[in-house]
Amino acid sequence: MVASRVDPASGDYVVELGSGTGAVTRALLEAGVPATRLIAVEIDSEMAAYLAEVLPDITMIHGSATDIGQLLPAEARGRVGAVICGVPVSMLGMDEQLAMIKAMLALKPHDGRFLAYSYRPGSPLRAARLGLTAERLDFTLRNALPASVWAFRAAGAGCEQGT
Ligand SMILES: C[S@@+](CC[C@H](N)C(=O)[O-])C[C@H]1O[C@@H](n2cnc3c(N)ncnc32)[C@H](O)[C@@H]1O
Repeated sequence: MVASRVDPASGDYVVELGSGTGAVTRALLEAGVPATRLIAVEIDSEMAAYLAEVLPDITMIHGSATDIGQLLPAEARGRVGAVICGVPVSMLGMDEQLAMIKAMLALKPHDGRFLAYSYRPGSPLRAARLGLTAERLDFTLRNALPASVWAFRAAGAGCEQGT
């Protein structure tokens, strides 16, 4: 569901934060995102090394999503089409949430939003409090826990219903 919300033909870079062992990363590749334009960021050194080994053609960055502004390769700056947040941001403190959200939106994704997946019944982020608008894009029961894909934008950026 996440991959279906990314335009693989846009020519832009796709940034996935918190790539883990790569379930979403692989889905993005299968959906047609070119490996040369897929950038994955993972804070865990073992998982980052594993993904770099099994998917050698993507750009694998070992580091924190909060630092994506500095970690992003020069060629991708200003050319980010989509940002996918796999980091469970809602489990962070409010200051950390704000820092990560600021870092993601500063990439200026061309669609103006970042995507996040969640197993909560409602929005995983307190959107209004964080200065965001939230839109549930997809929902499925075909997951061990029912799952949703959400899109978040800066409030005032011209979109959808808040949550
Ligand atoms: C829900 S899991 C993602 C699962 C992933 N889709 C997979 O297939 O394994 C969240 C991931 O975010 C990573 N993570 C947590 N905090 C992070 C941060 N600040 N920066 C980057 N990655 C982080 C965790 O190590 C974990 O791999």
